Amino acid sequence: MNNITVIGVGYVGLVTGTCFADLGNSVLALDINKQRIENLRQAILPIYEPGLKEVVERNIHADRLRFTTDYKEALKDAEFVFICVGTPEGVDGEADLQYVRMAAESIAQNMEHPLIVINKSTVPVGTGDWVANIIREHQPKPIPFAVVSCPEFLREGSAVRDFFNPDRTVLGSTDREAAHRVAQLHLPLRAPIVITDLRTAEMIKYASNAFLATRISFINEIANICEALGADVKEVAQGMGYDKRIGHHFLESGVGYGGSCFPKDVKALAYMAQVHGTNPQLLGAVMDINKIQRKQIIIKLEDMLGDLKGKTIGLLGLAFKENTDDIRVSPSLDIAEMLHEAGAVVRGYDPVAAENVARSHAFIQLAEDPYEMTTGCDAVVVATPWNEFKSLDMDRIKKAMKQPVLVDGRNLYDPARMREMGFQYRGVGRGFKGGGSDLQ
Ligand code: NAD
Ligand code: UGA
Repeated sequence: MNNITVIGVGYVGLVTGTCFADLGNSVLALDINKQRIENLRQAILPIYEPGLKEVVERNIHADRLRFTTDYKEALKDAEFVFICVGTPEGVDGEADLQYVRMAAESIAQNMEHPLIVINKSTVPVGTGDWVANIIREHQPKPIPFAVVSCPEFLREGSAVRDFFNPDRTVLGSTDREAAHRVAQLHLPLRAPIVITDLRTAEMIKYASNAFLATRISFINEIANICEALGADVKEVAQGMGYDKRIGHHFLESGVGYGGSCFPKDVKALAYMAQVHGTNPQLLGAVMDINKIQRKQIIIKLEDMLGDLKGKTIGLLGLAFKENTDDIRVSPSLDIAEMLHEAGAVVRGYDPVAAENVARSHAFIQLAEDPYEMTTGCDAVVVATPWNEFKSLDMDRIKKAMKQPVLVDGRNLYDPARMREMGFQYRGVGRGFKGGGSDLQ
């Protein structure tokens, strides 16, 4: 059993703290958001993440997982302190490190014995050394500590599963002994452990996210070419993926990547590159393609409906991806905003993100279920690939719509079947079999 403190209980901190507690450690999780901590003490979660609530409840009950807003209390018995605060997009795409700075200062001011400070937030290369300097400068009296970078690779929507089944653990530090102690913490996860220096560990995180974003923009570019040439991108991706050097993951074309990470991390990496005098051409293209991909949905709608002013468009799915309530940089909401600007009436349905959308996008008329939402629509756009959309009664939807226009931004449906049912259907990069074009 180790004494672990987690700073910041958002998606990463809450999952990390809870899962380390489940591995038998004693975890104290701290946040500056008092309401969040009060709720968590009663196992009321600030986020929707499949399977997380049960693990939180189990570990609160076992007294392995506790919550606080008090840094003194949080650091009193801690051996390992994980920084898991947000690093949102700042000016010009640079990562905003204000929360990391605050956390580092608070650690320095409240630590009373040697600590290993582990940074899990995604931070620009060089931040580990910067954090060490901040701690040193703000300590009332010198107490030894080590800084280890341990980037997080979990995905929202499968975060608990990802925590317990990581592909690898990456640890970076100038203090090898500290890195090895953090490695010990991760041994129960039975994943390969890469131990390197701080800067390399920080770079591994950005390079991984940028590579995955590149795959998505690549397949979206191929989708657009498929559309022009009458090929089917889903089958192209399937055919490519059997090549072991390529693989099938992250080759789903659609409305472009969203979420709180890929968009900001690709930008932050490009920013770092530029500031240091290199020209990140590929990253620029990845971001441009991603932007265009949302617009393609509007172009398709205009193509089929003409002027969108006064038209009622329904969005199936509002979260940035399935199995989450996270709406940060959601492609669906970018599309909603473009539709709103074009004068369309925008409706939306999402199984879990509706409450968050009600707070941020008052213009979206939210429906209780997909059938209510599609009734009277001039067009429906599939924007988030929730499982429950795969088996909808499409006949009922078609009959209830004003016009049977379906833009499938996530390629959930079979184009031939939708057309047979009488939909005017457009997917992403899906030509007719036999050489016809999706655009005809
Ligand atoms: P989040 O916004 O969900 O949570 C951040 C939490 O930190 C909030 O609860 C906030 O109140 C708290 N906080 C802010 N300043 C604090 C301080 N000084 N002391 C204590 N608490 C403080 O963020 P997130 O999505 O969990 O992301 C955290 C970091 O992890 C980011 O750098 C992100 O890029 C990275 N990351 C996120 C994911 C993901 O799936 N969300 C995956 C891998 C890495
Ligand atoms: C992503 C990475 O997958 C995680 O490894 C990483 O830890 C995390 O970012 C992070 O650094 O925060 P996440 O953003 O939660 O995780 O979700 P993904 O499943 O990666 O999806 C990101 C976006 O890409 C979503 O909008 C998704 O719909 C889209 N996507 C994904 C595609 O359009 N096509 C695909 O083939 C895969």
